[in-house]
Amino acid sequence: MNKIILKGGTLVSPRGTKHADLLISGEKIVAVGRHLQADAEVADVSGKLIFPGFIDAHTHFDLEVSDTVTADDFDGGTKAAIAGGVTTVVDFATQNKGESLTDALNNWHMKAFANSSCDYAFHMAISDWRDDIREELPAMFEQGVTSFKVYMIYDAMELSDRAIYELMTALKQYGGIVGCHCENSAIVGKLREKAIANGKTAPVYHPLTRPDYTEAEAINRFLSIAKAADAPCIIVHLSTKAGYEEVLRARKNGVQVYVETCPQYLLLDDSVYSRPFDESAKYICSPPLRKNDDSKALWDGLKSGRLNTVSTDHCSFTINQKRAGQEDFTKIPNGMPGVQTRSILMYTYGVKKRRISLAQMCAYLSENPARLYGMYPKKGALKAGSDADIVVFDPKGNGVITAENSLSKCGYEPFEGMRTVGKIEKVFLRGRLAYQDGEVVLEHTGKFVRRSKNSLML
Ligand code: URP
Ligand code: ZN
Ligand code: ZN
Repeated sequence: MNKIILKGGTLVSPRGTKHADLLISGEKIVAVGRHLQADAEVADVSGKLIFPGFIDAHTHFDLEVSDTVTADDFDGGTKAAIAGGVTTVVDFATQNKGESLTDALNNWHMKAFANSSCDYAFHMAISDWRDDIREELPAMFEQGVTSFKVYMIYDAMELSDRAIYELMTALKQYGGIVGCHCENSAIVGKLREKAIANGKTAPVYHPLTRPDYTEAEAINRFLSIAKAADAPCIIVHLSTKAGYEEVLRARKNGVQVYVETCPQYLLLDDSVYSRPFDESAKYICSPPLRKNDDSKALWDGLKSGRLNTVSTDHCSFTINQKRAGQEDFTKIPNGMPGVQTRSILMYTYGVKKRRISLAQMCAYLSENPARLYGMYPKKGALKAGSDADIVVFDPKGNGVITAENSLSKCGYEPFEGMRTVGKIEKVFLRGRLAYQDGEVVLEHTGKFVRRSKNSLML
């Protein structure tokens, strides 16, 4: 069995940093301590930061949207992930209307199996709530799927408030949790219809037809449903200050709500939508990019620990795919890549700019998603007994984000040209070197992760 000692590094956890060696044996970390000795290969990692493998709990690989399919499947998407230090993704297995959850889950297993270069788990996105779907819930838990996703918007996915309430109530008995895409479908739908009818067809109308209050209203409603169901819940991809204020209000009212945001809402703003079509269509995602005040509120939420995770909503399309909406912005497939760049962006623009601490970076990218999604301490920890998913990070490196260095098949990089500090030097996936100095060196060994219950305290 392979044995490696990572010697002399600085281990990072949500509780701070410490100097210690790690002994890896096979797929596991077996010892953590000073001056470890063993009959093992020794890798000198002095001067490096050692993180538990990052978790991206919000990816869409190989997803059909708007009559097309994402540019990144599990092959390309998970290679981009491992290059970003992500050793586990939680992708959204998505039920098509009329389909059973079992069929949807099997479909996602087929997409991911033998194609993934990092470990993977699935949330189940429910688009069709019926009695027979309720009866399938125990089977999902038996198969390690313990988190569910609902959408308050999108014709193909939208669930009624009643359906969301019933799902939340049903999941309570199994200890499951529901995440929600919160936007007011009626208002956004009407504003989009009016815009197109008035010849307002360019991408600049995308954010204008999804104003901040449409997110805030939906968050308020979703959290009222959670209150009525007395069930824990998650807001995914929070983008607005107004929505954040709804979260704080609901928490005061006793709602157990966890919140995710994404780098695009922290670092980009809606000025990009005024660029020519090809440049602005890249940034069409929902919710849209917002104002600087919104980003500031989200950074404050991270700094104060009131937000809980940073994932990416990686959902990539090529420019050619985006051109489906050249005459009508509502036809542009929504989403952008992010799985490869999240960690370096959070280090550069979060830690180095003192907006968050190194310990918080570890919480938001590793431990919190591991706990929230029932994978801790197998994942998200540098402890004896944890999977040896490890990121060796050189704080002295620097670089620039470019499409050339991106492994996403979408062909562009939303954060193009942004300077970065630090460098992912090596990534270990369950004890095996998977990425080194810019190259993915281990392909398609990713395994499915069966998950249990949320253990993240608010
Ligand atoms: O625009 C986005 N975010 N597309 C991905 C699907 C979703 O809404 O999360
Ligand atoms: Zn969404
Ligand atoms: Zn998403």
